[in-house]
Amino acid sequence: MSELSHIFDQMRASPMNDWVGGSDPELVGDASIGILTRLLPLHNQSRILDFGCGIGRGLVSLWKAGVRPEQLIGMDIMPPVIDFCDQQIAPYLPGTKFELITGANHHYDAFIDRQAGKSQSALSEQYRDNFTDAYAFSVFTHVTQADFQSLLHFVSSMLRPGGRFMFTCFELNDFSRHMVLSGQALFPLDPERMRRAGDVLTGNDADPLAFIAFDRALIQKMVWNAGMAITKVDYGCWMGGGLGGGLQDAIVCTKLPLLQAVDQIQHTALVARDAPATEPAAPIDLPQDSEAPSRFRKMMQHWRPRK
Ligand SMILES: C[S@@+](CC[C@H](N)C(=O)[O-])C[C@H]1O[C@@H](n2cnc3c(N)ncnc32)[C@H](O)[C@@H]1O
Repeated sequence: MSELSHIFDQMRASPMNDWVGGSDPELVGDASIGILTRLLPLHNQSRILDFGCGIGRGLVSLWKAGVRPEQLIGMDIMPPVIDFCDQQIAPYLPGTKFELITGANHHYDAFIDRQAGKSQSALSEQYRDNFTDAYAFSVFTHVTQADFQSLLHFVSSMLRPGGRFMFTCFELNDFSRHMVLSGQALFPLDPERMRRAGDVLTGNDADPLAFIAFDRALIQKMVWNAGMAITKVDYGCWMGGGLGGGLQDAIVCTKLPLLQAVDQIQHTALVARDAPATEPAAPIDLPQDSEAPSRFRKMMQHWRPRK
């Protein structure tokens, strides 16, 4: 456990902690993993991908929570965060490995100090159908619509059929739109921007990927296009109204499983009923209680109709 404390101390001391959202890395990591382990059943045979791992807050907290998966891979596009993970995490957590993806993102380009890493197609090939589970905290809150779609394809290609992917995002739906329009959301979002927004809401024009939210139907369509379906949603408290334990919305997708031949499916009866009784049921013997009528009268003296 002292190794984990040491890693968190290194994160606290690093300026990169601010690049990935700031706050105490251990508290943020533990809160994220609390949500993840509630939504996904992870175990020793799991092969897990931390997509957009940053400095590895989630991954180290996952280890701290006692999860020891068969494989734990972190991927990100910022070379310095992958260097950090290679030096500060990989030597201490057996089975963990980090991959640098060649990529770009307007919100993070300032931190991409060199062109290096593996292409998405190379990683897709290397890890095709490999992971049982994947997660991405605060990644799809900072990507364009086009990247959202292509990243879903990318992650899905690396999941085994039936594998699960939990990502966080800000979902525009009846409730969140209403709360933003009436100025009740947790973030100071401009109701006028919401009024003008279609399927996509950005927080400001100067850095549109600092906060970006997507319509529910659009997310659902993009997930389906990537060969997955939304199978669970856990709303966050960003939209106000006292919803949710986490800040962001957590969406769980399942990659469509391989289809079986229909004659291989073990069907379960829609309604299981006991066989009907052949003999009529015997009359129930009520206890003979001579006190009962007087007890009932006493009880009724105190009874008053509800107003
Ligand atoms: C807000 S940080 C969160 C980091 C980490 N998930 C955490 O919770 O600590 C967002 C991360 O997403 C990564 N990212 C952004 N665009 C990406 C992309 N196209 N592919 C992979 N990672 C990306 C960024 O480099 C950054 O590390």
